[in-house]
Amino acid sequence: MSGASDHDIQTVHGDIIAKQKEPKEGYQIMPLFMLAFVSTMVFVVAVYFIHNRAGLDEGLGLATTIQHKGYNPDKHAVEEGPVIVDPIAMGRRLYNNCAACHQPTGMGLPGAFPPLVGTDWVTGDEERLVKILLHGLQGPIEVNGNTYNGAMPAFGSSGAFNWSDEQISYVLTYIRQEWGNAAGPIVPEQVAEVRAATTDRTTPYTVSEL
Ligand code: HEC
Repeated sequence: MSGASDHDIQTVHGDIIAKQKEPKEGYQIMPLFMLAFVSTMVFVVAVYFIHNRAGLDEGLGLATTIQHKGYNPDKHAVEEGPVIVDPIAMGRRLYNNCAACHQPTGMGLPGAFPPLVGTDWVTGDEERLVKILLHGLQGPIEVNGNTYNGAMPAFGSSGAFNWSDEQISYVLTYIRQEWGNAAGPIVPEQVAEVRAATTDRTTPYTVSEL
């Protein structure tokens, strides 16, 4: 049986080991170059990241002011006036909350819900109207010659709706100017005034209280 003897193997290995360089103390050129290269890459990526921070924040939903690199707000400034709100359009939408009772026609339902068309409750005293909307109304009421005895919900903070001054003013302006009604608008400041004067009110009014 022929094979490599221990002596042969040692000779071959000895040759290989002799050809290898001695390990040296200290740093070598290649690792130093790699270190410098990697450091530079990290620096470049960091600078890029900082410059594009807005885009990342936007993506994460963190952005407060989004301003992209190279964006000059003065150059792109647009003449902006106040946001125009159409009280009638807003009021028409809010009226969806009234229509189930007073009907889309504003005619109400005989015996149950009084009409809003052609009635002094809607087109008359503004403070009284705001009070009804903010705090509600219950007990007997005569509207256009018919008597009703139901409950009108509160749309202010004493009710489930908790509408803002603006919302109350929009829906009231709408019902005062729809279906042939032709009364002046109600502005949010009027609602705020009545609201402030009636903060201790927690139950619906009755007609005798108005
Ligand atoms: C749940 C039914 C209901 C809803 C919703 C409702 N109302 Fe009424 N409303 C009534 C009832 C009932 C009365 C009469 C209350 C009474 O009998 O004392 C009334 C009375 C009124 C009155 C005074 C009487 C009249 O007919 O002019 C006004 C004004 C009024 N509601 C406006 C509104 C507006 C505006 C909304 C929506 C923001 C609204 N109501 C939502 C049931 C409702």
